[in-house]
Amino acid sequence: MRILFFGDVVGKSGRQAIQKYLKKLRDELSADVVVVNGENSAGGLGINRKSIEELLDAGANVITTGNHAFHWKEWKEVFDNYPMVLFPANYPGLLERSHYTTSSGLTVMNIQGRVFMECIDNPFLAADRLLEVVPKDTFKLVDFHAEATSEKLAMGYYLDGRVHAVVGTHTHIQTADERLLPNGTLYITDVGMTGPYDDSILGMHKDAVISKFLNNRPARYEVASGRCTVNAVLIEINKENRDIKRLSFIE
Ligand SMILES: [Fe+2]
Ligand SMILES: [Fe+2]
Repeated sequence: MRILFFGDVVGKSGRQAIQKYLKKLRDELSADVVVVNGENSAGGLGINRKSIEELLDAGANVITTGNHAFHWKEWKEVFDNYPMVLFPANYPGLLERSHYTTSSGLTVMNIQGRVFMECIDNPFLAADRLLEVVPKDTFKLVDFHAEATSEKLAMGYYLDGRVHAVVGTHTHIQTADERLLPNGTLYITDVGMTGPYDDSILGMHKDAVISKFLNNRPARYEVASGRCTVNAVLIEINKENRDIKRLSFIE
């Protein structure tokens, strides 16, 4: 099983990069399945039908989300009509919409952290509940959408040996700590983002972000333009080998 996972896709620029590179990389890397975090795919914040359709059309098999998933009212329409679009398991009532099993036999699960984030249900207990309901004899990957590196590593070790991979999303910056944990789970703290690179702070134009830091008043964020960065990981799981490789480039 070879899984290609793209970090948070930001706005139109991120969607265009996915349209340009997803199938190319999938073919070049012989990936069986492609997972994309789409929580910022509509206008830089949230999801809508258009952004989801574009990601699916580009070849995504499963789309994960996170704290920004609910930004647009249209999230509910996506929730009702696209079972392969996942929402974090530890929001009240969302457990059943937080996992999906592809025809190729990969179960993807979406959980969100709560350190420096919204105080939702305990993500570790949510992981336990998820593992009770997902199909047993499939490959298992968790997108842990979280801010704190400690919480992410703790989730990696907590699930070590119980799932095949735990990949972090949300910070939009790729970390260089990909590794195989002692009991066989592949792990990275954050995959990074697929979105605007030049004059960009995590995908948003730098001026409004700097202004907010300077003035402590709300500022209107806009998705940056210019070149796009693509950040992903390729995960390989077979009898002889378990491996995770980072991919990162600026187009
Ligand atoms: Fe994000
Ligand atoms: Fe996020």
